[in-house]
Amino acid sequence: MSEFTPDITRSYQLYKRAGEIIPGWTQLISRRASQFANGISPTYAQHAKGSRFIDVDGNEYIDWVNAVGAIILGHADPVVDTAVKEQIDRGSLYTLNGPLEIELAEELINTIPSAEMVRYTKGGGEACAVAARIARGTTGRDKILFCGYHGWHDWYQAANYLVEPESGEYPFAGIEPIGVPRVLAGTAIPFSYGDLAMLERLLEENQGEVGAIMMEPARSELPEPEYLEKVKALAHKHGALLIFDEVSCGWRLAIGGLQKRLGVIPDMTVVAKAMSNGYPMGAVVGSQAAMAPAAQMFVSSSYWSDNIGLIAALTTIRELKRRNSEARFKELGENLRSAINGAIAASGLSGACTGLHTSLAVTLDLPDEALQPKVKTLFIQEMSRRGIHCYMGFKGTLAHTEEEIRLTAEVTTKALKVIKSGLDNGDLDSLLNCDLKKDPFRRLVR
Ligand SMILES: Cc1ncc(COP(=O)(O)O)c(C=O)c1O
Repeated sequence: MSEFTPDITRSYQLYKRAGEIIPGWTQLISRRASQFANGISPTYAQHAKGSRFIDVDGNEYIDWVNAVGAIILGHADPVVDTAVKEQIDRGSLYTLNGPLEIELAEELINTIPSAEMVRYTKGGGEACAVAARIARGTTGRDKILFCGYHGWHDWYQAANYLVEPESGEYPFAGIEPIGVPRVLAGTAIPFSYGDLAMLERLLEENQGEVGAIMMEPARSELPEPEYLEKVKALAHKHGALLIFDEVSCGWRLAIGGLQKRLGVIPDMTVVAKAMSNGYPMGAVVGSQAAMAPAAQMFVSSSYWSDNIGLIAALTTIRELKRRNSEARFKELGENLRSAINGAIAASGLSGACTGLHTSLAVTLDLPDEALQPKVKTLFIQEMSRRGIHCYMGFKGTLAHTEEEIRLTAEVTTKALKVIKSGLDNGDLDSLLNCDLKKDPFRRLVR
């Protein structure tokens, strides 16, 4: 692909204006300029189709971020978009309930092993908050042990009262839980992924008080054999519900979630994002025993069952099945992995393309771990300059082609060669034409 330093003047102007009228610039932290190569990467897009987008300055990029995973079939998928447009003509939100609500619930029940009952939301964090409410209501217990990222709501953010914000420990390094009631401190308690002894200790220390264990069952690697089974056994031994947050690991690896792939069935599951290919939709599903008591709880919102989200989710899930997505994601991921490994070898650096085939990362062996932030930012910068939008990793869609894998590997070789020269000459700084990427939070899960 051609080498250019894109003109991002319009992106820059919009971002500057955003800073004046939108506190925090963006609605999603992952869309902040500081998450990429600030000054080189684009921040505003005007068009997206398939595996690519065009920024507001007219530059085209291959997209390996895909709305942080929410786009799974490809941007502006014609089948989903046609279904949505036809639904718009029939009405987006009725006064009455719509039958799509039942149709999607049945589709989810037939697709996700833990699903016997279903509630809806619009986003993933919101669905986690609903799951937390239902778990507390069903068990009559207030505390939640968690592992992973579960959104912005008070129930979860309260965990940051348990640690010094600057410690870089759980879960939001450097971010204080400003605005979260202090009285919630101690109600959401983090545990480390894989550490069964820690989980058991926390359950014992909070004997009879833990209503749920909420966790991302995996993120970029599969768990150790038996790990999730043991977590489930511990949860049930202590009278707590097990909730899998499959918002990010849910649909690419297996339609129906990691639980389907690994055969560990939680009491409740949270899904969102990729289930509707870019239209707002989230759901909490679970067993009758866990969820039926929610009928007595106040969990209610005007847009949770709007027809657009419902039809988008129904169509996306059916298209994933029809297009044999699990096999294609496997093929795409493994081809990309070997192409990126080739690029790493060609650059002369030592490292590997690591992670699940649905969540690949470039991992380099550096002489000093402290160089990671600079290397990551330089990687994003050099990829961006050549028309590839990514983190130091790749999340594809069904619209990504073998040609895009080839182009991405070609550009990766060039980007890694720049990094190598910076490492060899000890002058990474002079190669950086942007601010250092900021990492606002860690996910506590591999
Ligand atoms: C595992 C997990 N849970 C919850 C969320 C929050 O979802 P949303 O951004 O739709 O509120 C995310 C978002 O990245 C996620 O990855």
